[in-house]
Amino acid sequence: MGSCGCSTRTLIFALFGPPGCGKGTQATMIKERLGYVHVSTGDMFRNAIARQDPIALQMQEYMKRGDLVPDEIIRDMLQVELGALLAQSQRPKGIILDGFPRTLKQADLLGEIMVKLKLQFTGVISLEVPEEMLVQRLLKRGTGRPDDKEDVIRERMKVYYEKTRPLEEYYAKHNALNTINGVGTIEEIFERITPVVRSWETNSPC
Ligand code: AP5
Ligand code: MG
Repeated sequence: MGSCGCSTRTLIFALFGPPGCGKGTQATMIKERLGYVHVSTGDMFRNAIARQDPIALQMQEYMKRGDLVPDEIIRDMLQVELGALLAQSQRPKGIILDGFPRTLKQADLLGEIMVKLKLQFTGVISLEVPEEMLVQRLLKRGTGRPDDKEDVIRERMKVYYEKTRPLEEYYAKHNALNTINGVGTIEEIFERITPVVRSWETNSPC
């Protein structure tokens, strides 16, 4: 165990930003190139719906209309997922949270999960992209996600500004916010993110 009380060197941070800013795309890059595990609460929820999980089925209307699923439901799913990852014989070098936390309440819940799992949350990388570009990206995505219709996209943006964006100020106050320009090629954005992750790796307390 390290001097800070953490039982593992696993680094954990969040990719943050509005729908379409590139959280999933950049998490995939970080996974492939830097060897981190990608944990997306949106993917977890979509997978749970696909396997007909009864709670996810009950909650799918939130996602379909572009609203957030209740905090505690997401918290429970994430806790199980992270617990399973840390129980593996080979613990991950690092974990990227994609899409969590998304409310101030979730930031508190994340703190509780970190204590329970003896991890230390490192910080947030926020991807900034103008709204019209976000909408265009999502309309072009073409994967058939039920929430990629224009009216639902607009609702997701509204929910982001109302419920999620206040977290930027929260993490800025905690000196844990790193804002990155999310406009450019996928490669260029990855090159902007990498030094932040590398500096966290170097300065990791244990
Ligand atoms: P979630 O799945 O997290 O969706 P989201 O936040 O709305 O964001 P997206 O996944 O649409 O975008 P992204 O930022 O990952 O961008 P991507 O890389 O895909 O959540 C969906 C729903 O689940 C929520 O609405 C809610 O109901 C529920 N949920 C999930 N987490 C929750 C939580 N914590 N609490 C409560 N509810 C929760 O890129 C988008 C497109 O742009 C892609 O086509 C990509 O190829 C393209 N692209 C990416 N980068 C670039 C680039 N640099 N240039 C051009 N195109 C690019
Ligand atoms: Mg995503």
